[in-house]
Amino acid sequence: MRIVILTGAGISAESGLSTFRDKGGIWSRYDLKDLATPEAFARNPAFVHEFYNMRRANVRKAKPNPAHESLARLEKNYPGEVTLVTQNVDDLHERAGHSRVIHMHGRHGSALCAECGHRWEAPEVMRVEDPCPACGRPATRPDVVWFGEIPYHMDEILGALARADLFVAIGTSGTVYPAAGFVAQARETGSRTLELNLESSAQTRLFDETRTGPATEIVPQWVDEMLA
Ligand code: OAD
Repeated sequence: MRIVILTGAGISAESGLSTFRDKGGIWSRYDLKDLATPEAFARNPAFVHEFYNMRRANVRKAKPNPAHESLARLEKNYPGEVTLVTQNVDDLHERAGHSRVIHMHGRHGSALCAECGHRWEAPEVMRVEDPCPACGRPATRPDVVWFGEIPYHMDEILGALARADLFVAIGTSGTVYPAAGFVAQARETGSRTLELNLESSAQTRLFDETRTGPATEIVPQWVDEMLA
């Protein structure tokens, strides 16, 4: 069986990282138009960097939890194909031992030159003035996908979805496209669909099955079933 897994901020919540849309979430404290658009970066790059530097520091302090660890165990031991796509820019899947993670919204661990597109390992504190190691221009930005930009690796993800027998969404509210459209795409090509989330979401009715509860409990339980 081929499994495609999509994770969102909910899988890292119990590692102490804020989600976006829950009560007290990041977009209830900040306006995403000031922080997560190319226009915001053009207007006030220092403010945008300050926000991402803070989040990068929080990620460094966080540790993977049993949900990340169980998915790494699935990747290692499942006899079929497992494709992990994440909307998260943290590296908790990798630090849990997952070897191949598709980061469709980019990574905190990477810096991107807004002028020439060169990528390099993110310093702890990033500033727009930092010269690009390739072209030397001062146009350093976080290598994350902002609203209005096209997510990364879409061809690979859509290919995996078209072949999937099972699509599993974990800890995501299903409000941001294109990821929010994956469940419908998976259904169209005959895949079974499963949602693992703290509570039912705006998309629950689109899934064949929804299991609710904290990711650290329901994800390891599901992985145990798959490996039994
Ligand atoms: P959201 O904050 O929109 O949704 C998080 C989901 O996780 C919600 O449905 C919660 O119920 C659920 N949740 C919270 N705690 C949980 C727990 N302990 N166990 C299981 N589930 C839990 O986050 P995303 O769906 O990831 O994009 O957001 C998608 C995108 O919107 C992000 O990648 C980011 C954001 O704006 C960009 O910045 C481009």
